[in-house]
Amino acid sequence: MTQATWMITGSNGFLGANAVAHLDSKVTVIGITREQHDLTMPESLAQEITETKPTYLLHTAAIADHALCEERPDLAEAVNSEATKVIARAAHKAGTKLIYISTDAVFSGQPSAGKPAGNYKESDQPNPNTVYGESKLVGERNAESETNPLIVRTNFFGWSPTGQRSILEFFVNELRANRSVNGFTNVTTTSLYAQTLLDYIYQLKDHSGIFHLTSRDAITKYEFGIKVAEAFNLNESLITAVQSPDSKDISLSTHKLAQSLDSGVQGQSEGLLLARTNLQSGNLII
Ligand SMILES: NC(=O)c1ccc[n+]([C@@H]2O[C@H](COP(=O)([O-])OP(=O)(O)OC[C@H]3O[C@@H](n4cnc5c(N)ncnc54)[C@H](OP(=O)(O)O)[C@@H]3O)[C@@H](O)[C@H]2O)c1
Repeated sequence: MTQATWMITGSNGFLGANAVAHLDSKVTVIGITREQHDLTMPESLAQEITETKPTYLLHTAAIADHALCEERPDLAEAVNSEATKVIARAAHKAGTKLIYISTDAVFSGQPSAGKPAGNYKESDQPNPNTVYGESKLVGERNAESETNPLIVRTNFFGWSPTGQRSILEFFVNELRANRSVNGFTNVTTTSLYAQTLLDYIYQLKDHSGIFHLTSRDAITKYEFGIKVAEAFNLNESLITAVQSPDSKDISLSTHKLAQSLDSGVQGQSEGLLLARTNLQSGNLII
């Protein structure tokens, strides 16, 4: 049987590089970088999709920097929303399955309409309160208007090509250097280890619709820092519990995910142990 071909946008980025590493031994991978196709002008990528006809298109490329999105809403709209529409249309034409990476930031993380924040289900009404979250939500809708995508709402940690992209790297780098850091006690997420996220994406690749692919446990950034210190044998007393001015609970429910997987949904401590094992074994690849 011929190997499936996975085209991965943003293949130099945090998730994209993890995806290349995860999928390389399983499928034929075509990595797409900004140098090859700048998504402010997405037609050239659309043409490559229709010519190459990959089996799957894992669309990770985005302006993922929240501050840049606030400064340049035009850029966020062009890359996160409009390019997604063009790419989705090309994928549909090519018979390619689109997997669109979205975010927990489609929710505000604030109590709303009498409901407490957090534990958001796929059926809950998104209510982004940032330019980034809004642009990604429009990206979801643009993808759905053109094809029948798998939409993955997530939040992840892991090892990135720059060594500085993820909150795991932040805590490990700072604590190893014996520097004091703050950990927010009022910011809660269900962050998932990036390699586990890719395993779940691979398992669900032929599904359609919205899936929340996160860890099963909601914890604060402070609690995450403590877990990092435990897992990597670092000094947890360097972490000070503080309140963020941007208090939020953007945890997602994994009820639907749990029903769709062969195994149970991973927790954040288990993800950290796997991240440590992959680091120690050099089985990391990026
Ligand atoms: N990090 C998280 O915890 C998190 C949480 C929820 C959802 N997400 C979503 O996950 C996806 C990947 O995020 P990430 O953390 O891996 O971000 P990242 O490290 O910033 O990677 C984003 C990628 O997009 C590319 N890109 C940006 N602008 C582009 C443009 N104009 N044309 C072509 N490529 C462009 C970047 O290219 P360069 O390398 O050239 O800059 C980079 O490769 C995004 O869709 C993001 O919304 C991330």
